[in-house]
Amino acid sequence: MIDVRHRPPIGVLPATHAAALPAAGTLGGHTAGQLLRLCEVAGLGGADAAGYARVLTTALGPVALRPLAQPAPSRSFLSDDHTPVEFSLSFEQGQAPSLRVLLEPGGGVGGLARSGRSGLRAVRALARRWNFPTDRLDDLEDLFFPLSPQGPLALWCALELRPGGVPRVKVYLNPAASGTERVGTTVREALRRLGHPQAFAALPESDRILFLALDLGDWDVPRVKVYTAHDNLSAAAAGGLSRKEDGPPPTEIEAFFRTAAGRQENGQDTVLDRRPGLACHAFTESATGLPTGFTFHVPVRDYVRHDGEALERASALLRHYGADPARLLDSVAAVTSRRPEDGTGLIAYLALAHQAGRPPRVTVYISSEAYRVRPPAVLSPRAEAVH
Ligand code: TRP
Repeated sequence: MIDVRHRPPIGVLPATHAAALPAAGTLGGHTAGQLLRLCEVAGLGGADAAGYARVLTTALGPVALRPLAQPAPSRSFLSDDHTPVEFSLSFEQGQAPSLRVLLEPGGGVGGLARSGRSGLRAVRALARRWNFPTDRLDDLEDLFFPLSPQGPLALWCALELRPGGVPRVKVYLNPAASGTERVGTTVREALRRLGHPQAFAALPESDRILFLALDLGDWDVPRVKVYTAHDNLSAAAAGGLSRKEDGPPPTEIEAFFRTAAGRQENGQDTVLDRRPGLACHAFTESATGLPTGFTFHVPVRDYVRHDGEALERASALLRHYGADPARLLDSVAAVTSRRPEDGTGLIAYLALAHQAGRPPRVTVYISSEAYRVRPPAVLSPRAEAVH
C-alpha cells in the first residue's frame, strides 16, 4: 500500500499565515491551506508561500469566502467535483518538483460572459502586480470573449510558483467560445495573430481542440499551446501524435501510456475509451511551422480502481525519469488526510512533457477535492471472484 507521510491536520493553517486568509471551512481557506502545505513540500519559503496563497484567494474573488458546506460555486469543468482549483507538480530529473496551481478566476460564477470578464480582470491585475505585458492576450479578445460565449470555460489561469514570489503565468482560453462549429477558424486565426501562421496545419488529426494556452510574464521562451483530445486512443496511436521535430520517439510515449493507463483485466493494453487522452502541442518559433514541445496526458483517474493505484503508476514513472516519488507522496498528504485507497480522482492526470532544449518532465495533477471524493471504482464480478 502507498505510504503517505504525516502532515499537520488538513484545515489547520500555520499561525503566521492564517490571519490574512479566508477561514478554514471556506473554499479559499481550504485551497489556500493546501497550497501552503504544498509550498512547504516543494521547498518554497514561508513568505513566498503566504504571498502565493493570497494571490490564489484574491483571484478566486468572493467565492473564496464561501463555506464548503454550500455547493460548489459553479459547475466548473476545471475539476470533477467542480472545485475551481487544481494543483500539479512537475518533476525533472534530479530537481525539486515545481509546483503549479490552476484556477478559474471568480470561481466561474455567473455564466461564461461574466466569468470571462472576471478572468480578464484577474489576469490584468496579475500583470500590473508583476509588471508583464498582456498584449498577446489582448490581441485575441474578440475571438475568445464574444458577447454570447459558448463552451465549457471562459478563462483559466495557472501559476508556476517559483522561489522569489513572482510566478510564471499561463492563461487557458476556450476555442469554442465563438461557436463549436468555429473552433478550427478561431484557433487558426489566433495562431496567425500570435505569429504562427503555419501552426494550425501542423496539428495532428483529433476529435476536439480543448484549449489554447498562452505563457505570459517572465518566460525564457514563451509558448502558445494547443490541446487536442483523442477518443478511444491506443498506445500505438498515442505514439504517433507528436509533430515535434527530434522526438520523443513513439516508443517512449507508448511506454509512458502503458504505465500510466495500466492493463485491462485480460492483460491487453488499455484503450482510453472512458475519457480521452490529451496531447499538447507547444509553438515557440515560426521558422519551421512545427511545434517545439509535445506533452501527452493520460486521465489516469478513469483507468484505476483507486488513487493508491494511480500513485503506484506515478511513482514508477517518476523513478523511470530519475525523480524521487517521496515528494509526490508528501504532496498528497499535504492536500488530503484520506487514504489514497479510499477514493479515485485525487490524481487526475499523469503527463509526460518534452520541450526542445529541456530534459523530459513528468507532471502529476492533484485535485483539491474541496466538495467531493469520488468513491473507488467497483471491481468487476470477475476480479471480485478472485479476491
Ligand atoms: N477537468 C478537465 C479535464 O479533465 C480540464 C483539466 C483540468 C485538464 N486539469 C487538467 C486537462 C490538466 C488536462 C490537464 O479534462
